[in-house]
Amino acid sequence: MFETLVRVPPDPILSVSAAFQADDSPDKVDLGVGVYKDEHGKTPVMRAVRTAEQELLAEQSTKTYVSPIGNTGCNTLMTELVLGSDHAGRKADLSLAQTPGGSGALRLGAELLQSARPGATILVSDPTWANHIPLLGTVGLKVDRYPYYDPQHPGVLFDRMLGHLDAQPAGTIVVLHACCHNPTGQDLTPAQWSEVASVVARRGLLPFMDLAYLGLGEDLDRDAASVRLMARAVPEMLVAVSCSKNFGIYRERTGVLIALGAGAERAAITTGHLGRLARTLWSMPPDHGAAIVQRVLSQPALRQDWMTELSHMTRRINGLRALLAEKLSAAAGTDYGWIGAQRGMFSRLPLSATQVGFAREQHRLYMPPDGRINIAGVSPANVDRVAAGLIAAVRS
Ligand SMILES: Cc1ncc(COP(=O)(O)O)c(C=O)c1O
Repeated sequence: MFETLVRVPPDPILSVSAAFQADDSPDKVDLGVGVYKDEHGKTPVMRAVRTAEQELLAEQSTKTYVSPIGNTGCNTLMTELVLGSDHAGRKADLSLAQTPGGSGALRLGAELLQSARPGATILVSDPTWANHIPLLGTVGLKVDRYPYYDPQHPGVLFDRMLGHLDAQPAGTIVVLHACCHNPTGQDLTPAQWSEVASVVARRGLLPFMDLAYLGLGEDLDRDAASVRLMARAVPEMLVAVSCSKNFGIYRERTGVLIALGAGAERAAITTGHLGRLARTLWSMPPDHGAAIVQRVLSQPALRQDWMTELSHMTRRINGLRALLAEKLSAAAGTDYGWIGAQRGMFSRLPLSATQVGFAREQHRLYMPPDGRINIAGVSPANVDRVAAGLIAAVRS
């Protein structure tokens, strides 16, 4: 039977990691997959996470099943973190499910939408994270795009984006990167978020917010501000939250899907559907990461330490952005200040796939073919080489 299967094209991001591993040059720099790296190029286990794990190991008395919607403590604490003080007023409207990462939350959300409105249209930004369309588009929803980013004059095509959303029929689903837009790093300003929320509310669109980098743009509150604003503007929305990057627990596969509806009765029905759908997808989400998140967020000393380490990581990324922008501007003789003003792990350089190949062959810089770079792959030790190689690629 398997002879009917045809070869799948390599994953555009994961194949960069494989090529990087296979290169034995000491000069190679990994600007590919979106993981945080410290000053030694390592992706560390965070202090509070390590402590929580040790405590769990000592105390956990059973490994029995949890439930299809997972660890409810983790779900509630993450939702409080995302919605802030608004959470209290909307408790009755919430349906929550723990998921295998933010990817699982996106998938579960898409399945829920397909159950509620089969074949509905779901819009993603152009460009968007490479896995959005595969995750959201294979459940039966119709995926389309809205204009978002102008690579030639780096910035948001805001008027075109807003005009496009304003022309959509009610019930259209709109995926919005809540902060740290992937792959561009270009976020909306608070004023632009207000305008988007007004259009979404007025047209009766359903926002599906992807919050994969909470705390890694500015800080926890400012990064969640777009979600809080939207939650105040609309009766219904979905939020896919990832704990991968901000807790550094990528492989533990931890995320939460938040569904905000109108009223307790609807919320209970929605929760029932989330459980049913999770049962058909993965039955139960993995527990370990969620148990860590619950412990870190519920114990004041661990929570404080986690927040301190997270804000150190964020300051480091933003410092590297400023440094890279300065070095690129100097190497190119033109202004790359926009890289310093963007947020999150990524920026996208105006490079063709051929120029990306040139950067790899000639300068040992590894990035996906769309020219997205992981800022955390830059360090004070390699920034001169990275800047020179990138500018050589732009000019090639
Ligand atoms: C925009 C975006 N959404 C969601 C995710 C999902 O993250 P994970 O499934 O690893 O939690 C990622 C990860 O790279 C992402 O960049």
